[in-house]
Amino acid sequence: MDKFLIDGPCSIKGKVLISGSKNASLPILAATLLFDQPVIIKNLPRVKDINTMLNLLKSLGSKIILSKDKKTAKVINKKNMKTFASYSLVKTMRGSILVLGPLVAKYFKSKTSLPGGCLIGARPVNYHLAALKKLGMNYVIKDGYIIAKSKGRLKGRKIKFPKISVGATENSIIASCLAKGTTILKNCAIEPEIKDLTNFLNSAGANIIWSGRTCKIKGVNSLNHTEYSVMSDRIEAGTFCVAATLAKGNLEIKNLNPQIIKTELNLLKKAGAKIKTDNNKIFIKGPDKIKSIKNIKTKEFPGIPTDLQAQLMVLMCKAAGKSSITESIFENRFMHVAELRRLGAKINIKNNKAFIDGNTKFIGAELMSSDLRASVALVLAAIISNGKSHINRIYHLDRGYERIENKLKKIGVRIKRYK
Ligand code: EPZ
Repeated sequence: MDKFLIDGPCSIKGKVLISGSKNASLPILAATLLFDQPVIIKNLPRVKDINTMLNLLKSLGSKIILSKDKKTAKVINKKNMKTFASYSLVKTMRGSILVLGPLVAKYFKSKTSLPGGCLIGARPVNYHLAALKKLGMNYVIKDGYIIAKSKGRLKGRKIKFPKISVGATENSIIASCLAKGTTILKNCAIEPEIKDLTNFLNSAGANIIWSGRTCKIKGVNSLNHTEYSVMSDRIEAGTFCVAATLAKGNLEIKNLNPQIIKTELNLLKKAGAKIKTDNNKIFIKGPDKIKSIKNIKTKEFPGIPTDLQAQLMVLMCKAAGKSSITESIFENRFMHVAELRRLGAKINIKNNKAFIDGNTKFIGAELMSSDLRASVALVLAAIISNGKSHINRIYHLDRGYERIENKLKKIGVRIKRYK
């Protein structure tokens, strides 16, 4: 299993090119199951989760033609696709549950493995199943599989989600595209990745309109060929902006519309970062002294994303003074705290709130990654630690960050990947 060796502290300066968004690519790739015609998806990030989704589509019968740089995929579906999404593939990537909606909408049946939980929480899919059931999907759960079918085409319905859910919103929008009649989804998640999904579907002839957290989908009989370039990854961009703020860095973050991380940039300005933006770039300079922020709270978009919580915790460890972070999306997303304590952090947890003493002097140590975003937080902490840090199980990182060590080396980080 690969590890990282980081020899800190490192000062960081230079340009970073942001890759395509993993969390926009996954629903868009799942939605290609709706298509009879070939469809081309560009700007895919070269990360493990995308490979897993492409392998899942292949296991269902799609032919995938990848460009040489592996950032463009041409997806060609067979006349009669399989509808069995196996546990072996789904267990490695929870986002696989997103094939359920399109398979039932297009083929009126599916046997899809329940994704199971992960370290950050139980991750149930009850909102997905309840919404798809309202659209006409009947299902039983047997041996860990969702065995679903519908009597012909799904039927447009009015549905209000009991809680805001990114995945349930995506599954329902994709399934509604081919339903008979109009679906109105209320209390939707409105993350930029979901808007990217609906832009993609509309570019292929779907009929989707947004108004606040309400999404209206007029079902169509089929979708047309389209070529679509996935949006940039706002969590990767946010991670590098935290890195610059943390390490007195001076970075130019390229290839991202700064508007989609406005909330995060405002928070980093409060911490003392100097930030300028133009339509596709962010210029960020870290302060000599990081200001502490009393109560950071993760929220659904447009709030502070839970996927940046661990990274912001590292920043608050270095801030001058006390701060706190409340994780309001997942029930167990503080695994990075134990590892940060090994580096010298002083953090107390009370339920879903972390109380952080600042002015921490991080000393390099042996560290263990636990989930994708916690792992990148350990990388940030190692960058500003005194001495060498070894980070184990970086396969977590490879799931969502494209060869992050190459991007970090280019901006001055002494980092090495080794077995
Ligand atoms: C998506 O997960 C992202 N994954 C997550 O990113 C992200 O953290 C999360 O949204 C929140 O923004 C992808 O897009 C592939 P939810 P998702 O449904 O869809 C509960 C990363 O690091 N819930 O919005 O699973 C759930 O347990 C990953 O890239 C139910 O109870 O998130 C959680 O507490 C991590 N029942 C809350 O809702 C359901 O049916 C929000 O989950 C669905 C969700």
